[in-house]
Amino acid sequence: MTPGRFISLEGGEGTGKSTQAVALAKMLEQKGYVVQLTREPGGTSGAEIIREMLLTGGEDKWDIRTEALLFAAARAEHSAKLIRPALARGEWVVCDRFIDSSRAYQSVNGALSDEEIMELHRVGSDRLMPDRTFILDLPKAVASKRAAARDRGGSDRIGGRDSAYHRAVMANFRQLAADEPERIRMIDAAQSVESITATLVQNLGDLMS
Ligand code: TYD
Repeated sequence: MTPGRFISLEGGEGTGKSTQAVALAKMLEQKGYVVQLTREPGGTSGAEIIREMLLTGGEDKWDIRTEALLFAAARAEHSAKLIRPALARGEWVVCDRFIDSSRAYQSVNGALSDEEIMELHRVGSDRLMPDRTFILDLPKAVASKRAAARDRGGSDRIGGRDSAYHRAVMANFRQLAADEPERIRMIDAAQSVESITATLVQNLGDLMS
């Protein structure tokens, strides 16, 4: 049996992550792999309930620490019930966002330290990490336009935070990529859908057997 592989896609709002997750899963299936396409927060029935709790309502619905704990709880459920079993069966998992989103979003303005976020991940998910992570990078103006067209002005509780917040998120993602260049690859998302997918596949060559 070939080893299961865990791939996550990350980035700000409107960078085309979800489109790429679908396209990448399809490419991998064409290569003969069994692929689970999933997302965070969510991916299992319980975690989807937590997603709804997290993404609806007003800005002050949750204290920032509660928010971080809920993301970690959704991830624990997802890791235990869907991701780890799939990897154990030798399948590939393509996940739209994972732990690096918590590291990039829940740390803004010194909310939680990276150590605290990783500690929640240790307790919740025994530190499960992707084998490879792609951060889709798009100039802010283009990404905002795309996200606005998609959401028609009705972005979710976190997507609706101000532009300073989202700039800080992107800076955090870039820092994570600089710190972990083997696992995390920054991808220029200003190319065509097809050429971005091809770039992702190229960056998975070493994980394919
Ligand atoms: P998602 O549905 O991927 O939103 P989008 O398609 O707009 O990128 O993710 C939902 C929101 O949750 C998004 O604003 C990012 C945020 N989020 C966190 O703040 N922390 C996390 O750990 C995760 C997984 C997502």
